[in-house]
Amino acid sequence: MTEPEDIYDSPELYDMLSTGVPGDVAYFSKLAKQAKRVLELATGTGRVTIPMARAGAKVTGIELRDKMLAAADEHLSAEKPEVRQRVELFQGDMRAFDLGKTFPLIVIPFRAFQHLIDVRDQRACLECCRDHLTRQGSLVINLFDPNLKILASSLAPNATASRKVGEVELKGGERVVAFATRTSCPEEQWFEEDWVYECFDKGGRSQWRRSRKFRLRWFGRYEMEHMFELCGLEVEKLEGGFKGQAYHHGGEQIWTVRRV
Ligand SMILES: C[S@@+](CC[C@H](N)C(=O)[O-])C[C@H]1O[C@@H](n2cnc3c(N)ncnc32)[C@H](O)[C@@H]1O
Repeated sequence: MTEPEDIYDSPELYDMLSTGVPGDVAYFSKLAKQAKRVLELATGTGRVTIPMARAGAKVTGIELRDKMLAAADEHLSAEKPEVRQRVELFQGDMRAFDLGKTFPLIVIPFRAFQHLIDVRDQRACLECCRDHLTRQGSLVINLFDPNLKILASSLAPNATASRKVGEVELKGGERVVAFATRTSCPEEQWFEEDWVYECFDKGGRSQWRRSRKFRLRWFGRYEMEHMFELCGLEVEKLEGGFKGQAYHHGGEQIWTVRRV
């Protein structure tokens, strides 16, 4: 069997089913509008970037993968000129960037920080963020809060069973269905998911099937608090969802932190 490719080499598959966390676009757009200028790390195909610019903010974005960046450029080209003018996107690494200026708001939406598996990489990213924040500026990071039941189930003997993770209808009426299998490494706090996307025509006949993978690190609440402190950042608040939910086990971690 051939090894699945990385999901970020296929932005069209990413866009089909990676619709973010409920409420995240409105949440980040509101913050960006208030801040007027925002730096977004790991912009992907511009899912949050473009709405923040539509809300009136000047958005600087950094994204590692050229295909994701090209897809963002394409989405942006469909926007009104005033929105396009408010966005500047760079290919770069959130672990090592130096833009030579500071921002009143830096955001890392939709678990992108969880792609940093190694503690040195996580610290390098947070230190770069700290150095790019204005004195009163805020860094807002969204992670999922590790759900112990879900994590434990991926260690169970039948853990290789695949589960349906999404379904979408394409413009031509075809349906794409995705199933995922998960492999976990609890010692290093990460899991890898292989997603199999299969497209069916209107008659239910399979048209194509493609496998893509990604790896995510999970973070405990207090681990994050300690890491922020080590990186010269202090916690202003921790929320549990984008619709005002309090922090709770297995929900979201939405951190707002500032420079010490
Ligand atoms: C879950 S997607 C989020 C994309 C977008 N922010 C959204 O909300 O849809 C994670 C993104 O992080 C990017 N990424 C992963 N590691 C990165 C790094 N070291 N520096 C910059 N971007 C990175 C990936 O290429 C991918 O586009």
